[in-house]
Amino acid sequence: MIQKVIIIGCGNVGYHLGKRFHEVGVEVAQVFSRKLEKATRLGLSIDAAYTDSLAAIRTDADLYILAVWDSAIEKVQATLAKQLPETALVVHTSGSCPQTVFTAFQNHGVFYPLQTFSVARSANFEIMPLCVDATQARHIEALEALARRIAPNVYRITDEQRSKLHVAAVFVNNFSNHMATIAHDITEREGLSFDLLRPLMLETALKIQAHEPRKVQTGPAVRKDESTIQRHLDYLQYDRQLQELYTLLTKSIMR
Ligand SMILES: NC(=O)c1ccc[n+]([C@@H]2O[C@H](COP(=O)([O-])OP(=O)(O)OC[C@H]3O[C@@H](n4cnc5c(N)ncnc54)[C@H](OP(=O)(O)O)[C@@H]3O)[C@@H](O)[C@H]2O)c1
Repeated sequence: MIQKVIIIGCGNVGYHLGKRFHEVGVEVAQVFSRKLEKATRLGLSIDAAYTDSLAAIRTDADLYILAVWDSAIEKVQATLAKQLPETALVVHTSGSCPQTVFTAFQNHGVFYPLQTFSVARSANFEIMPLCVDATQARHIEALEALARRIAPNVYRITDEQRSKLHVAAVFVNNFSNHMATIAHDITEREGLSFDLLRPLMLETALKIQAHEPRKVQTGPAVRKDESTIQRHLDYLQYDRQLQELYTLLTKSIMR
């Protein structure tokens, strides 16, 4: 059973996991950030010790959660291995990083919340899927039990499944947010309020909660309305890359 957790990384994910663990009564013994003020802020708010030194990480936790950039996981786990026993249970929170990144620990896994987090926004753990995996069955069970304490929707997802799921998540979140960024730029360019588009974005997201996205696609591409498409491309002449993106997405919808 996992009772005592240490969180490495006080960014978007580390922050929200720390807050949620504390909220449901899971002990967060310590938090780490390279920036002491970030570690202090989170630590004080959840009754956890805090440090900006990996060498000062306590050795008595049941679980070490590495909520750091994907590119930093390998280096951080190697540094941690200098003081933690090889048998310590270590997980990361990445959607795409394989578990082979844990070269210094034999007991490792993944604790991946499939949601978009920002420190500035509250996180709703009641609706987000939490994907867990580990090398050993008993650790999968322990991680599942821990995950269920903070979120009702817990799934065992293998490395291979998670890497594919992450591709889909990039389309659904990162790319759709980027589409909103482009729309924001257009409204700004034309002196219009982005608020005019917010209800449309909300309805788009709500509609696919109950329908298959393909079946509720609207717009000129699905209608094969060539003259409207051409007018849009004419407007986008100021940015060749936007024209190409519009053309590519239009073709993708028509396929
Ligand atoms: N944000 C999301 O929506 C989301 C959702 C699911 C999963 N994830 C995954 O969760 C992990 C963390 O993402 P995030 O959004 O929380 O990132 P983030 O807000 O940028 O925070 C990342 C943390 O990594 C730390 N870090 C970076 N390089 C480091 C290094 N060399 N040594 C030690 N610490 C280092 C940063 O430390 P400092 O504070 O010291 O700068 C920061 O606290 C990533 O694997 C990401 O793929 C993110």
